[in-house]
Amino acid sequence: MGYPFEDGIVNRINAMKQRLSTIREADMYYYNQPISELRGGAKVFVNGREMGMYASYSYLGLIGHKRINAAAKKAIDRFGTGTHGVRSLAGTLTVHQELEDTIANFKKAEAAITYSSGYVTNLSVVSTLLGREDYVISDKLNHASIVDGCLMSGAKFLRFKHNDMDSLESRLTQIPSGATKLVIADAVFSMDGDIVDLPKVVELCRKFRAWLMIDEAHSVGVLGSTGRGIEEHFGLDGSIDIKMGTLSKTIPSIGGYVAGNKDLIELLRHASRGYIFSAAIPPAQAAAATEAFKVILDEPWRIHKLSENAGHFISGLKQRGLDTMLTQTAIVPVLCGKDENAFAMTRYSQKAGVFVLPVVSPAVPVGLARLRATVTAAHESSDIEMAMDIIEEAGINAGIL
Ligand SMILES: Cc1ncc(COP(=O)(O)O)c(C=O)c1O
Repeated sequence: MGYPFEDGIVNRINAMKQRLSTIREADMYYYNQPISELRGGAKVFVNGREMGMYASYSYLGLIGHKRINAAAKKAIDRFGTGTHGVRSLAGTLTVHQELEDTIANFKKAEAAITYSSGYVTNLSVVSTLLGREDYVISDKLNHASIVDGCLMSGAKFLRFKHNDMDSLESRLTQIPSGATKLVIADAVFSMDGDIVDLPKVVELCRKFRAWLMIDEAHSVGVLGSTGRGIEEHFGLDGSIDIKMGTLSKTIPSIGGYVAGNKDLIELLRHASRGYIFSAAIPPAQAAAATEAFKVILDEPWRIHKLSENAGHFISGLKQRGLDTMLTQTAIVPVLCGKDENAFAMTRYSQKAGVFVLPVVSPAVPVGLARLRATVTAAHESSDIEMAMDIIEEAGINAGIL
């Protein structure tokens, strides 16, 4: 299709078209592949073939859990598939209140509020709490939704070196002491799998009178003996002011939340635009999320199995000579170097039945392209061994081993 005139939009469309067609011609396009079927917790059917799933966020293997499916079906029978609009008007259902109470309890907070996605949560919360006169101090590897929230707030945006507490302290020192400041970081970094140094971040926030917001997208169900997340992991209950999380990873649903002080939640409920101007989470998804938090507490074996599987995967890949960077969790980067190596390793692995995906620049710095592999509680040890053998062969084939 042609365009009646040339402009910046047309240039962008054409540049993307060109880039995608080069990648597709080289048989290196692995994004947006539809999964047609679940085969148990750790296997999927893709392009007519069964593959081991090593790219899932469903860390505890809860997608398809019978109790969670049943809760969703029951909510559909009771409420239908949609809501009557935004939460503040006719969109609030009892399932939303149950979900928020469950989250507040699980996160040991006074109250919680939910939004339609994790992305919207970060955008809305940061931009509601901060304005032009304020400061936000963000880890360099924070998720894009945090960065976008910081930019949208208009606050002065300072970044500190990844998980580097001297760098955070020097940033905090630069800010006038009376200014409003928010420090924000992922609990588990989404591309690297390492854990933020919470004890030191908390100490610095107290010293410099800064608020602390932590994004627990990849730590709920993953960290802590009962899966409650990073405060439980470090034995620091009550240390985070704004506990943000998603309902789309360990919790097999959709949505995002913040748990914290009840007056803070009241402010967000009445002032955050992502809550006021966007529709409520559908009833099936709200009920599924509530049930999932209960399943985590009722089935603690999943947390132990996840941690065993992550340890097995990380140490096995290292023994095979692969570089898993600084990960300490179920997100396991396998460093490939150049983007082409990551594409070649993905192609080899997927052809051999291991579903991993490449992460390349600009999502990660040039030269640090990687497979972003994950394990879950649903994997068996023998499957993990097989997957690691295939990833090793892929590394040899791509010339990085
Ligand atoms: C750290 C982090 N925060 C927020 C989000 C956004 O969450 P959602 O996908 O539920 O919108 C993600 C998603 O990948 C994430 O990794």
